[in-house]
Amino acid sequence: MRLRVNGVDREVPLEPRVSLLDALREHLGLTGSKKGCDQGTCGACTVWVDGRRVLGCLTLAVTCVGREVTTIEGIAPADGLHPMQQAFVDHDAFQCGYCTPGQIMSAIALLDEGHAGDDAQIAEWMSGNICRCAAYPNIRAAIRQCRDQREGARGATA
Ligand code: FES
Ligand code: FES
Repeated sequence: MRLRVNGVDREVPLEPRVSLLDALREHLGLTGSKKGCDQGTCGACTVWVDGRRVLGCLTLAVTCVGREVTTIEGIAPADGLHPMQQAFVDHDAFQCGYCTPGQIMSAIALLDEGHAGDDAQIAEWMSGNICRCAAYPNIRAAIRQCRDQREGARGATA
């Protein structure tokens, strides 16, 4: 089947039962998305399909044919970090880092969805992403920084 991942068409021989997460990690060499639980409860495998966050472990790769898949490897510009990645660095929003790719994919989507109004809302809409290191306050601080940067940029162009 042909999958379009991070703007590139990739031809990959897959059985219909293969998950998007396994397709990415095992067949396309994109190991940024992590396998935590493989049953939809941790969020470590979060990627975007047509710009919306999905759990790669619960999504069949075959359902993504003809759609745009984006992974953590596809969000940064060639010369640096995505602002959300930088915010995670600035706020020390990870310890072991295992959950971090999924957290970042969710966090960016959260801003696009308009669900970052306050800490309670951020916590609610990030609740599908578990951090065993409990970096939650730092993750929320990173999201607030990115949200404020975006709002500042919008204000400057208004
Ligand atoms: Fe997909 Fe945990 S690996 S939700
Ligand atoms: Fe270790 Fe989140 S940083 S699980």
